[in-house]
Amino acid sequence: MERKINKKISKILMVCLGNICRSPMAQGALENMVRERSLAVIVDSAGTENWHFNKSPDYRAQKVAASRGWEISAQKARQISSSDFNNFDLILAMDVNNLSNIEKIRPKNSKTSIRLLLEFSSMVNKNLPDPYYTNDFETVATLIENSCENFLNQYFK
Ligand code: 4NP
Repeated sequence: MERKINKKISKILMVCLGNICRSPMAQGALENMVRERSLAVIVDSAGTENWHFNKSPDYRAQKVAASRGWEISAQKARQISSSDFNNFDLILAMDVNNLSNIEKIRPKNSKTSIRLLLEFSSMVNKNLPDPYYTNDFETVATLIENSCENFLNQYFK
């Protein structure tokens, strides 16, 4: 059975490992769709690691994002912190490793929902491949695009 997200969603945090490939693209895609639908939703992104603090998204991610009309060049990488649980209504993780690392810093009384982005795709494997290693940014962008569309159709009809 589908797990419900009960709270009204207005702030969404996309999370991956380095915050320079997958989650910046996911942020850009969702921001673009939110703008097209005139929704009052704020999107941000972060990494579970702090390796690329204040860096722009990977140039390969920037190129593929720009080709789809997603503006991501102004983003700067940052690490997720426990205060993000108070600031966001929903955290969307790119893979199960991200999900378990995010759970480790959940504040004691936080009820914030954490879901996998690809739960909103028809893929059997719910882990978004990491294009930092695979170099396949196009496939990743298509998976992100489909998942974000399905997510918005489900929660913002
Ligand atoms: P991301 O990809 O988690 O999608 O941003 C990665 C970016 C950098 C590294 C690994 C994954 N890295 O090892 O530096």
